[in-house]
Amino acid sequence: MRQAIVLVGMMGSGKTALGRQLAQRLSLPFLDTDAEIEKATGMRIAHIFEEQGEAAFRGYERTKIAKLLAGEPCVLSTGGGAVMDAGTRELIAAKATVIWLKARLETLLNRVSKDKNRPLLKTDNPAAKLQQLLDTRTPFYNEAPIQIETDVKGFEETVEAMLKAVQNHQNTV
Ligand code: S3P
Repeated sequence: MRQAIVLVGMMGSGKTALGRQLAQRLSLPFLDTDAEIEKATGMRIAHIFEEQGEAAFRGYERTKIAKLLAGEPCVLSTGGGAVMDAGTRELIAAKATVIWLKARLETLLNRVSKDKNRPLLKTDNPAAKLQQLLDTRTPFYNEAPIQIETDVKGFEETVEAMLKAVQNHQNTV
């Protein structure tokens, strides 16, 4: 692999589970932006949102993604909102093979509904919030040259589809 692979998509789209498996198949390290930010700051993501706000968090994301993409190739899972930052978008488009992992709203809701650690879903109506985030983010996710549905096929088949798409794409760049 010449380039890092960056996974974008909504919370609950399968970035972590699929990303880990993809990394294993490609013998690349798997990294998660949220986990790396928590390690570097010593703070939980929810705490950063509460104390410093979303804009500060997007700044941490951009800096961390830039640093990770300057290193050895890896599979990098990004937080669902990372694409909302223009600097982050430019960076990943220039330095990585970007995959948008897509899932229906119903699937996303099922996957994230029991998770208390997602600050943006601490609201009375998580379904409406998720829909609104998805609508706002879709034009930016859509910039990804590879797009894979994660709730149509089984897990292994989805990983195979990702592998195939990455190989095809990297042969053309
Ligand atoms: C966010 C998604 C989270 C995390 C933060 C904000 C978002 O990551 O970065 O809570 O804006 O959608 P996951 O997509 O890994 O859940």
